[in-house]
Amino acid sequence: MEDQVKHTDTGGDSSHPNDSRRDFLVKVSAASGAVTAVIVGFPVVRAFASPGLPQPHVDGWVKVADDIALIDVGVPVRVNFVQQLQDAWVESRALNGVWLYTEDGDKFKAYNGHCTHLGCSYIYDKDLKHFFCPCHRGQFDPKTGEVLAGPPPRPLDELQVEIRDSAVWVNYKDYRLGVSERIEA
Ligand code: FES
Repeated sequence: MEDQVKHTDTGGDSSHPNDSRRDFLVKVSAASGAVTAVIVGFPVVRAFASPGLPQPHVDGWVKVADDIALIDVGVPVRVNFVQQLQDAWVESRALNGVWLYTEDGDKFKAYNGHCTHLGCSYIYDKDLKHFFCPCHRGQFDPKTGEVLAGPPPRPLDELQVEIRDSAVWVNYKDYRLGVSERIEA
């Protein structure tokens, strides 16, 4: 029959329409694979490389009081605040607190609001005139932060304080709990 289809061996000639389509699909597939590798790979590379890259500035200074004239003298006052945190490339917020104490309305002390034992929030006992931690009955001296009783292994964590235009600013930091040395967390 004359109308039979004849298959001719072209000896590897890629000019056949099917071969062109296959080449095209291979190229598209390779290109999309490369794009996917970049998209997936970049965060991974960045995660490993980030410790060596400049980190976003982390400012621990927090304004905890607008006016020093409004702070009681001789009685600690607790101030809570929300702090913006930057851990590597992750941003988050945390509710933290400090205790402010002044004996003369001029010089201020600030203590991290977490007990140095296991991190509970402590209170000021007006009768005892001490800080008191309800978790394991730890007690601290508000004038010095020293441990007066209970299991806390070190004094309260005192923080840097600055007075700027009558406002009180504290350089808030957390420290490792349950150890006698003061090590930044
Ligand atoms: S957590 Fe404060 S005494 Fe244990």
